Amino acid sequence: MNDGLVKKLALTGDLSDGELAELIENGALDGELRLAADERRREIYGDEVFVRGLIEFTNFCKNDCYYCGIRRSNREASRYRLTADEILGCCREGYGLGFRTFVLQGGEDPFFTDEALCPIVACIKNEFPDCAVTLSVGERPYESYKKLRDAGADRYLLRHETADPVHYGKLHPASLSSENRKKCLFDLKSLGYQVGSGFMVGSPYQTTENIVADLRFLQKLDPDMIGIGPFLSHSETPFADFENGTAALTIKLISILRLMFPRALIPATTALGTVDLRGREKGLMAGANVVMPNLSPVRVRKLYELYDNKICTGEESAQCVDCLRARVGSVGYRIVTARGDVKKQTEEARRASSGGHQVN
Ligand code: 5AD
Ligand code: FES
Repeated sequence: MNDGLVKKLALTGDLSDGELAELIENGALDGELRLAADERRREIYGDEVFVRGLIEFTNFCKNDCYYCGIRRSNREASRYRLTADEILGCCREGYGLGFRTFVLQGGEDPFFTDEALCPIVACIKNEFPDCAVTLSVGERPYESYKKLRDAGADRYLLRHETADPVHYGKLHPASLSSENRKKCLFDLKSLGYQVGSGFMVGSPYQTTENIVADLRFLQKLDPDMIGIGPFLSHSETPFADFENGTAALTIKLISILRLMFPRALIPATTALGTVDLRGREKGLMAGANVVMPNLSPVRVRKLYELYDNKICTGEESAQCVDCLRARVGSVGYRIVTARGDVKKQTEEARRASSGGHQVN
């Protein structure tokens, strides 16, 4: 085992493919890696943790991803969609609780055409001009992303799921392609969205080489946000009998991401909190700096079930925020109620650090 790997990654922000694979597969450097990632995170973001209020506004989906509990073929799922008034109501409640970012997440629901969704975005921006609106509604044509951006959307989350087209094909039906997903991400960037991408950890058939390819794709995309979480099986999907991804590998990858993308906004995800009851706290200690409490109405929480045993489905929004604040505090960080835009490096600083840490 090459013990200089963590130092090299911390110093240069990169490693060769072989070195990354070694770091991913070998547990011996996990402690050192976590400490280096926490140090880098504190240099840039201090002890601040940003909150995003998550509104899961529709669980209708026209897609049939093999891993996902709200896939079209799951006839057991009871479907819901929130009205514009209900979505605004969630934002009002969230605003009162201190949120300055709202994430509207949903399946690819044909009901939410541009004509339906743009006015909702515009209403939120109109009522809360000091807030960021993040959309997470899957693949859409360039023109649609443009209309939503013009309506006021600031950010977009679209995980690439896996960068390798062959692996992508094992997780998705033939109607979806890795190529289109990547095109969507570059479209979003070109329209000026702050873009978030990411992948599942431990998804069926995933190899270490796939993960290295994910890291390389992220370097090409250079996103502002990077979300990863363990794959968790859902009983009503074709992947019901696959093993879950682990907290340990997810946490290690959060640290690697922090060192490769020092400025990225990296959430400690609900999936990580589901696979390990202290997973989110451990994620924060390993370099994550965002949490996303659920603002959806309690009556629909259980229905937005991408995987089995999802946490935070019984709590009122205020309880979820209090719970998270305590959790974040318990590991030495602090929730801040700012919009929490990515800290872009200035041109000056970029020049000053050339040859040092990779900028992001
Ligand atoms: N386990 C873990 N994560 C999942 N997602 C979807 N289904 C699952 C699952 N079974 C993730 C995908 C998607 C995000 C919203 O949730 O990465 O992009
Ligand atoms: Fe949602 Fe604890 S974070 S209940």
